[in-house]
Amino acid sequence: FRLPEIKNEPTRDYVPGSAEQEQLMAAVEELGSTTHHIPLVINGKEVSTGDVQQQLNPGNKAQVLCTYENAGPKEVDAAIEGALAAKSKWEAMPVYDRQAIFLRAADLLATKYRYKLMAASMLGQGKNIWQAEIDAATETADFLRFNVKYSAEIYAQQPPFNAPGIWNRVEYRPLEGFVYAVSPFNFTAIGVNLAAAPALMGNTVLWKPSNSAVLSNYVAYDIMREAGVPDGVIQFVPGDAAAMTKQVFEHPEFASLHFTGSTHVFKNMWRQIAENIDRYKSYPRIVGETGGKNYHVVHSSANIDHAVNSTIRGAFEFQGQKCSACSRLYVPKSKWSEFRDKLVAGTESIKMGPITDPTNFMGPVINQAAYDKITGYIEAARNSSDCEIIAGGKHSDRDGYYIRPTVVLTSDPYCKLMKEEIFGPVLTVYVYDDAEFDSTLDTISKTTPYGLTGAVFAEDRMATVHASTRLLHTAGNFYINDKCTGAVVGQQPFGGSRASGTNDKPGSPSLLQRFVSPRSIKENM
Ligand code: ALA
Repeated sequence: FRLPEIKNEPTRDYVPGSAEQEQLMAAVEELGSTTHHIPLVINGKEVSTGDVQQQLNPGNKAQVLCTYENAGPKEVDAAIEGALAAKSKWEAMPVYDRQAIFLRAADLLATKYRYKLMAASMLGQGKNIWQAEIDAATETADFLRFNVKYSAEIYAQQPPFNAPGIWNRVEYRPLEGFVYAVSPFNFTAIGVNLAAAPALMGNTVLWKPSNSAVLSNYVAYDIMREAGVPDGVIQFVPGDAAAMTKQVFEHPEFASLHFTGSTHVFKNMWRQIAENIDRYKSYPRIVGETGGKNYHVVHSSANIDHAVNSTIRGAFEFQGQKCSACSRLYVPKSKWSEFRDKLVAGTESIKMGPITDPTNFMGPVINQAAYDKITGYIEAARNSSDCEIIAGGKHSDRDGYYIRPTVVLTSDPYCKLMKEEIFGPVLTVYVYDDAEFDSTLDTISKTTPYGLTGAVFAEDRMATVHASTRLLHTAGNFYINDKCTGAVVGQQPFGGSRASGTNDKPGSPSLLQRFVSPRSIKENM
């Protein structure tokens, strides 16, 4: 059989006054007009636990967007047992039926529910229209569709040779046990992929969404159910991360962790899994995308206007709350004066405020903890003799969690702001001597333990070749004359190594390969 052609979901423009912008903003108004209640969903049944929590609108913290049920030990246990019980039918379902379900989910999401899912991401995650379009609408649909294409490629991988009278073949079995998917707040697409990718390959999944993204993740979950994901295949279980994780890792049928979040949490999870290793039937598949401290390095031959615009976008789009966001910048002394003027002017001109006003380029950061952490770095810069705030620096959490895009100039390339992941709209710049381009590349490599994304800006081809070679292990996604963000599914498989993750590349066959356990069969004919 032949799959439908798989292409990237086209982005819509939402020009002011267009029907699409009006319809989307109407969906935002409608979704924001009441407080929703989100249940757990276990074996297709809505479950109440009595432990009810709130998700606030980060742009207007007086507004409770939704209340949700928090899973306790009893519900986690029921979700695991239900996922295990659902497994035999799900894995026996012909592959093309599983593929059809997720293709249908992508179509529903990109058409009937596009604005609803975008509205939930805008209200809940503080995204503007175009950020929500890229995340909730296009990237989510792209993950679902390209996964189907890649799954077909995996199932088609068969031994090239059969000796006479023998038929060799490989079966791509799902893992034995259940998958635990733990997703972050910042991308609806990531949450969906964390649950849907293992499910497509025949696994059953416990999905623990971020407590700051329950509404959008539930809307996406409901779309997958409407598309035909059977009861028990993906269990929707918001809850307390530490307690749930401990319980899950103690279960003998735990087969895989599919995680996106902080490096610190992932390392702790890895340690817990190691402690429980004797309980498990197989070595668990541990797949994680974690932190980053991503860089732009500008060469003296660079087109400065392009490098400045790319840096502003890379650092401040999505409020800097992207694992790939640019947070370190290296500029040569000969270009700094021009670069600084343009960077400061561009940064100060950014309009920030509630996402209900589509002219705002930036919205709020996600919650009080993020606000406190990010502003802590800004205040540390203000009080440091090595740092100078040259743009932004203001913030307020009176109504919502708003932090002006901030540029810090430092004389110490190894200062705290150059080394640590901030996960917010703060860019730190170091100005290097033009003659020290090479040693600056080494500094970039040595400054942080991360290896997620990076970019070089140069018109001189030798400089880009040189940077690309010398920065080999600093980025799983490396860009030449482009910002270090915005990987597109099906075009630039995404992910990093070092402390940034297991680099299994969501949006590629390698990720799906982690959720199958191949069996070779030799049959004498
Ligand atoms: N995949 C997203 C990006 O590349 C995080 O920016």
